[in-house]
Amino acid sequence: MNDPKLTRFDVFREGLRRDGIEILHYEPRYPKPGTKPEKRMERIVGFLFILAGVFSLLFLAAYIWWPWEYGDGAGDWSDPARSYTSVIGICLGLSLLFFAIGILTWAKKLLPVEELVQDRHDGPSSKEDRKITEATVDTVVGDIGLKRRPFLKKAALVGAAPLGLAAIAPLGGLIKDPEDMLTKTGWDPEYAETKAKGEQAGVFQGGKFVRLMMRDGTMVRPDMVSVGGQITVYPAYEHGASNKEALAPTLLIHLREQDAEELRENLYPMYEEVSVSTPEGEHESTAMFGNFVAYSKICTHVGCPASLYEQQSQRLLCPCHQSQFNVVDNAAPIFGPATRHLPMLPLEVDDDGYLIATSDYLVPPGPAFWNRPSLPEGWEDKQ
Ligand code: FES
Repeated sequence: MNDPKLTRFDVFREGLRRDGIEILHYEPRYPKPGTKPEKRMERIVGFLFILAGVFSLLFLAAYIWWPWEYGDGAGDWSDPARSYTSVIGICLGLSLLFFAIGILTWAKKLLPVEELVQDRHDGPSSKEDRKITEATVDTVVGDIGLKRRPFLKKAALVGAAPLGLAAIAPLGGLIKDPEDMLTKTGWDPEYAETKAKGEQAGVFQGGKFVRLMMRDGTMVRPDMVSVGGQITVYPAYEHGASNKEALAPTLLIHLREQDAEELRENLYPMYEEVSVSTPEGEHESTAMFGNFVAYSKICTHVGCPASLYEQQSQRLLCPCHQSQFNVVDNAAPIFGPATRHLPMLPLEVDDDGYLIATSDYLVPPGPAFWNRPSLPEGWEDKQ
């Protein structure tokens, strides 16, 4: 081992031998370095890395600039927002794919052809073993040829750098303070007013409470939902039915008489008399309107749409992880992983006969998070 005449490869082979590894066959893929076929293979691998980089950059561009909000058509097929997830997914997928193919091609077409048989052994490494490992790593690095293949080194960097950026870019979402975005929704008149500025706000809300509308923009009247029926409703202003208001989708249910009666008896005190301040003064209403009740559609487990209403058992089922909520008991969770009830949206009918929400949800909708209030302010006072 200390013989200065030993070449690096001799030490490498000796190391393998001591580890019980026998070299059956070992030859460089291209015995004469720098030949045309080798250069061509280098270019192919380099091209694959560059392609990976290009798709990473496309991912970043789409992530930042592709319109992700539904427009006026609220998500019809011509709306580019519908393809947002697919576009960023395809770009990132292709980038990773080309990078992986590049690495594999490098290993298969440029590294030496070798056939080894290895015996495994136990025990810690000796000083000598570490020296051998050093020589081995050195040999492998030499075989990969990073030093004599500067083009591939640069191409790999060009491909990997944007890929690294693509991995950290989504963290940018953590930079902006969400403020009250996590606790308020478009059902809050003031919040909605600031979001749907100008004329739209006036037309849809009458300057007061937010009306209920269907996805196609139709305002909802009580006679539009048959007894035992349900529809999904959104805040009636521009973008109200878009993914910008992801926490606002609400299930409006027209309960059967006996179910409505049961719910009225079970109603949480905080829902019984909802008092809200309007520009005209204090307003009080019961959370339900007649036999109508509205619950957040966003499951309090991890946010899937909980919308399978089973009229006979009065349960609302979330298809994701099977949580069930009792519709006639304030949508309290009765089965599955969800632990918070679905917040109720207090309802009324305005002077024109349209259903309105007399306030935002009294408890923030959606999954729980670290500092989310689980009960509204002053809840104890209303007990
Ligand atoms: S998201 Fe509804 S049960 Fe998990």
